[in-house]
Amino acid sequence: MMDWVLSLIITISLALPFTGRCSHVYTRSDFPEDFAFGSGTSAYQWEGAATEDGRKPSIWDTFVNSRNLENGDIACDGYHKYKEDVQLMVETGLDAFKLSISWSRLIPNGRGPVNPKGLQFYKSFIQELVTHGIEPHVTLHHYDLPQALQDDYGGWLNRTIIEDFTAYADVCFREFGSHVKFWTTINEANIFTIGSYNDGITGPGRCSGNCMSGNSSTEPYIVGHNLLLAHASASRLYRQKYKDMHGGSVALSLYAIGFSPATSSKDDEMAAQRARDFYLGWMLEPLVYGDYPYVMRKTVGSRLPNFSEEESELVKGSSDFIGIIHYLAASVTNTKPNPTGYSDFYSDTGITLSYTCNITTSQCAVTPWALEGVLEYIKQSYGNPPVYILENGKSMKGDFQMQQKDTPRIEYLHVYIGAVLNAVRNGSDTRGYFIWSFMDVYELLGGYGPKYGLYYVNFSDTHLTRFPKLSAHWYSAFLKGDTTFLGSQGIAQLQNNFSSSSLVM
Ligand SMILES: *[C@@H]1O[C@H](CO)[C@@H](O)[C@H](O)[C@H]1NC(C)=O
Ligand SMILES: *[C@@H]1O[C@H](CO)[C@@H](O)[C@H](O)[C@H]1NC(C)=O
Ligand SMILES: *[C@@H]1O[C@H](CO)[C@@H](O)[C@H](O)[C@H]1NC(C)=O
Ligand SMILES: *[C@@H]1O[C@H](CO)[C@@H](O)[C@H](O)[C@H]1NC(C)=O
Ligand SMILES: *[C@@H]1O[C@H](CO)[C@@H](O)[C@H](O)[C@H]1NC(C)=O
Ligand SMILES: *[C@@H]1O[C@H](CO)[C@@H](O)[C@H](O)[C@H]1NC(C)=O
Ligand SMILES: *[C@@H]1O[C@H](CO)[C@@H](O)[C@H](O)[C@H]1NC(C)=O
Repeated sequence: MMDWVLSLIITISLALPFTGRCSHVYTRSDFPEDFAFGSGTSAYQWEGAATEDGRKPSIWDTFVNSRNLENGDIACDGYHKYKEDVQLMVETGLDAFKLSISWSRLIPNGRGPVNPKGLQFYKSFIQELVTHGIEPHVTLHHYDLPQALQDDYGGWLNRTIIEDFTAYADVCFREFGSHVKFWTTINEANIFTIGSYNDGITGPGRCSGNCMSGNSSTEPYIVGHNLLLAHASASRLYRQKYKDMHGGSVALSLYAIGFSPATSSKDDEMAAQRARDFYLGWMLEPLVYGDYPYVMRKTVGSRLPNFSEEESELVKGSSDFIGIIHYLAASVTNTKPNPTGYSDFYSDTGITLSYTCNITTSQCAVTPWALEGVLEYIKQSYGNPPVYILENGKSMKGDFQMQQKDTPRIEYLHVYIGAVLNAVRNGSDTRGYFIWSFMDVYELLGGYGPKYGLYYVNFSDTHLTRFPKLSAHWYSAFLKGDTTFLGSQGIAQLQNNFSSSSLVM
């Protein structure tokens, strides 16, 4: 997760009063038996060891180091502490874990030779998960394209990336595929594209205006197109070469905001639909139906690349499930066409978004119905594909005491998991839910400020000691079918049981 939205908030609204429908009392056994509950981290945010054992920089290393921002050089030192962390996952009772592979650790130049030490690390880590009965969900690209490919030919802007990404995926499928059944090619592909090529707030930091280079009118659409083709090409390779043997699945993950019209006017209702088409349909429509949404083709015109017939066939049906990353709700107001004639992704949408977040505290309103709405929308508009919610969670700032007694996080998780259950009961083919993040990590935009973890990490301590927060105890009890701590009385009891003394589970 990145707090990208805070830098582009247009208006701030007060937290919505908490009025949503939600399942108040439920237990794990209310979910289908094979529903997967997990948690996750990503390579750069957790591994550290940024220059160790042959790893070379990714565009994220370059982005933060050239701007003197906090970095993940050490992060949680997961590279060295992975066994300890898998042990914590086991104690928590996770079914599954979302990790990502650092492309430039495995193949330092992006193409060419594999780094044996990088290979060994991921083999050992994945083996450790599988040995302990935890299903790995592996992402291939989490904001961290090898810098070498950016330098060689402009990275995602150049169609050469399709071939190189497919070759990288081939190495991963071949080396790890006997243990990995769930692959995600590109993490939140839509927001990576907007952040990196429209806003310039994520690596490689390109945009019109305040960036050193870039073009927000054209580049987001070119990059989005190449991402879809690279994903689809990797997915085809998997089906041709590995699927019979390994039986796994390959997906794209998308960031899904819960949009609702600001008023009941026809204009705002159409604006909310445009928001869904531009933010989600942009990539989901090609994956399901083989082309961009009509409203995008009409508005963006010749700046939106066309799919050839062959490409359309390649992309259509290439995502075996849809990975969903969800944090936010926004209300949508229609805006008048921009008279200056300047176009970027936002002006193309013709909308104004108002997020329910407080920019001072970076706290967002708890809106579980937004997640339920996203799952309903995907069910009803895209033929009910299988969905895994690969990230959802709550950031909190504060000291150790606050972090340890993270009751607001528990309340958040409780109602969001309830929202998922509502959607599943109403027919959504949602098959898993992953809390971001398993432990406090380096956050892509907020660095070591915002914390999402179930486990606290003492970043001042050279040992980077981990402690379970109250939310880790809560999730663990839920996963183990213990109903003691459910509901508000249960949370009070949880506070009593784990308040001062026990730092270990
Ligand atoms: C944001 O949070 C601060 C600190 O709690 C509070 O003073 C302020 O009123 C909040 N703003 C809004 C718009 O809710
Ligand atoms: C893409 O990269 C190739 C080298 O791999 C280069 O020849 C070509 O000019 C690049 N195309 C664009 C549009 O930058
Ligand atoms: C962006 O690219 C378009 C199309 O090539 C061009 O017309 C426009 O001038 C470019 N904008 C900037 C800021 O370079
Ligand atoms: C895509 O095809 C449409 C219709 O054939 C055409 O009008 C448009 O200019 C094409 N766009 C590009 C980027 O080639
Ligand atoms: C449940 O699903 C039906 C059929 O897709 C739909 O019409 C209805 O609105 C859904 N209910 C909720 C609460 O989303
Ligand atoms: C974190 O580590 C520092 C340095 O070792 C130590 O002084 C501090 O007490 C630790 N904090 C907690 C909450 O354990
Ligand atoms: C929590 O505390 C209560 C009362 O002290 C006790 O009965 C219960 O067994 C404890 N539960 C756990 C899981 O520690």
